[in-house]
Amino acid sequence: VDFSDYLKHRKELIEAALQRFVPGGEGKAATLFKARRYSLFAGGKRLRPILMLAAAESVGGNIEAMLPVACSVEMIHTYSLIHDDLPAMDNDDFRRGSPTSHKVFGEATAILAGDALLTDAFALMTSPEVLRAFPHGKLLEAIHEIACAAGSQGMVGGQLVDIESQGGLVDSEALDFIHQNKTGALIRASVRVGAILAGGSPAQVDDISHYGLCAGLAFQIVDDILDVEGDHAQLGKAVRSDARKKKATYPALFGLEESRRRARELADEAINSLARFGPEADPLRMLARYIVQRDH
Ligand code: IPE
Ligand code: IPE
Ligand code: MG
Ligand code: MG
Ligand code: MG
Repeated sequence: VDFSDYLKHRKELIEAALQRFVPGGEGKAATLFKARRYSLFAGGKRLRPILMLAAAESVGGNIEAMLPVACSVEMIHTYSLIHDDLPAMDNDDFRRGSPTSHKVFGEATAILAGDALLTDAFALMTSPEVLRAFPHGKLLEAIHEIACAAGSQGMVGGQLVDIESQGGLVDSEALDFIHQNKTGALIRASVRVGAILAGGSPAQVDDISHYGLCAGLAFQIVDDILDVEGDHAQLGKAVRSDARKKKATYPALFGLEESRRRARELADEAINSLARFGPEADPLRMLARYIVQRDH
């Protein structure tokens, strides 16, 4: 099948599942339900859940049962975007083509919408429907992966170093730490969890893990590149904002040409780590290419 059809179809599958698992709500906390859905449904490529399903497919697993877990990762990612855009962090006004959460709802509600998405993700992953679908040992292993990738040893840790490094001098080792943690960790966890829950062997999970490490770093390098040469309307968020904030980025440290080369090299390495897989890993292979060729 055509890869753009595959992407479109998978995106629709995730959208429909998100609609089901993240409903609106009435009552006293109605604003919270509204703010949650505002950021979640503003757009977004749904790349992390798509990667999770592709990893499950690559080891021959069933993807239907995994949808709540895939949605949970998208919820955690969306929380990270809401908080990343806050005035105290990157102070950005646009996200997914719309004004950021704090611009619309105010800072307090934006912080709480992020808190809610993060916490509700764990409630969803441990909901009766999910508990019925997977052996509990495997499920706990998967949830542990996601928690570690999102927390101090992963995304939050990377975000802290990203903020602390603004305006300073950062070497390539520190830059890779930031990128691998703030962005790479959740992407790597997404594919690992897909493989774990689908019953992949330890060797398969290892190969997919290396794929995730390379694809995750490549993803953030391209995010940095698009901040320099991307289009505001296409991206749905501010451009040229990293330089303004003196962020530690690949283009700032190595230049655009070398950044592009490194991203392509990492995509190749991601694909090479799937050498022992057959055609069932083709979606993962194409996703690695997509990550470095995307324009938004
Ligand atoms: C943007 O992520 C933030 C990073 C971690 C680089 P995406 O580019 O996946 O954003 P959406 O989900 O498509 O909006
Ligand atoms: C964001 O990195 C990483 C997380 C949200 C965890 P950026 O700050 O570069 O993401 P954008 O460019 O604002 O989407
Ligand atoms: Mg940031
Ligand atoms: Mg940002
Ligand atoms: Mg960026």
